[in-house]
Amino acid sequence: MTGYALTHLRHVALAVPDFDKQLDFYTHQWGLSVAATDGDVTYLAAEGSPEQYVVRIRRSIDKRLDPVVFGAADPAAVDAIAEKLGRGGARLIGEPDRLHTPGAGYGFRFFDNEGRTIEISTEVEVRSHRKIEEGESIPVKLSHVVVNSADPESTVAFYENYFGFRTSDILMHPRMGDMMWFLRTNDRHHSMAVARGPHPALHHASFELRGIHEYMRGTGRMLRTGVEKIWGPGRHKAGDNTFSYFLDPNGNTMEYTTALEVVDEDSWHPHLYDFTQPEVADQWGTANALDEFVAAKSFNDPDKGPSHRRCEFRPAYQKGSQCDSPPSVSVDRPAPPSSPMTMYTCSRTEQGCWIWSGAGSRRRSMPGTVSWPMRRRYRPIRSFSRLRFVRRRSGTSSPSKNTSRACARPCRTAVVYPNPGTSHRISTSPTLTP
Ligand SMILES: [Fe+2]
Repeated sequence: MTGYALTHLRHVALAVPDFDKQLDFYTHQWGLSVAATDGDVTYLAAEGSPEQYVVRIRRSIDKRLDPVVFGAADPAAVDAIAEKLGRGGARLIGEPDRLHTPGAGYGFRFFDNEGRTIEISTEVEVRSHRKIEEGESIPVKLSHVVVNSADPESTVAFYENYFGFRTSDILMHPRMGDMMWFLRTNDRHHSMAVARGPHPALHHASFELRGIHEYMRGTGRMLRTGVEKIWGPGRHKAGDNTFSYFLDPNGNTMEYTTALEVVDEDSWHPHLYDFTQPEVADQWGTANALDEFVAAKSFNDPDKGPSHRRCEFRPAYQKGSQCDSPPSVSVDRPAPPSSPMTMYTCSRTEQGCWIWSGAGSRRRSMPGTVSWPMRRRYRPIRSFSRLRFVRRRSGTSSPSKNTSRACARPCRTAVVYPNPGTSHRISTSPTLTP
């Protein structure tokens, strides 16, 4: 019994304006192969991976992080996760059902706490794959995904509480505090990491190569062909894995790695590493400086997915052309258990304002209006299970006095109060997440 709700990372999906260059990069330089094509969507597989595909690229006007997909053990596990998310007030895009992507399977999608689209699936058909031979410098499989978060404590709490992710290590900065959380969902040091950033976005996706030799050959191949290198080659302290970061044609950072640490659950204790120490960022001392250039590229562009969804929660009169969203459809779902909303905290993020509600006794002792610096001390990460996000929607009940003062602009709409024993409607916009 591991306690992990998810088994592993399956694939990441990218929407890109320059589709042709993106496809050429991943197939002719990065080392993936086309598994299937469906109109403006292409599925790319890693030769050594049993997954049907590890990257999906979609032709789009906007650059976006499309679904990040994790595996679950069986349909019952998928159903249990959907149920837990529904009870917690998360926004499901659809009920668990048969999938119609390569390999089919059973799963569903939802929006995480910052509006990323996440898919959980199981019983996906295994792809015929092969052993990567010595000297072959192509990805064996997808290793991990790292996301930027404007509210990383909440994002980490979301993944810990809903899926049982465990924190393997944390990177901190002496002045800026905790900066990156490495999360595991199996015995690998991390399948996912959350980085503090100015906006939700893809930080990087990482691909595992066969070994050090193949990793260095792959790194050299990228350099020789003129792919822009961001950082590396080197070896991190956290996870003990090697790294070489490159930019794809649409400005997403991709990593070649190998030798990611395997964690012993019984004896592992998370470390808090100061990443300004040179040997933490790069044990070998071979990488270029971890400077503003590396940071800026890692922040990536603000993800258009969460940005677009943010607009759905604005009153119509606040919507500009960039906020026009496709018509949404609604599905009835059981209302989550209602709790007394004794305090409210307004958090300004890329998605606009968020309202936090707290029902725990400790939370009741907090003042009704909490400023950003106070909220940092508040640190909801340790008690997220007693907290619930409530998105603001127009046409619902009035916000409290404290809330309206805290979020006078730009969030002037009200809070949704689910009533116990009744159902409420969860809007979904499938066209936002093809
Ligand atoms: Fe990485």
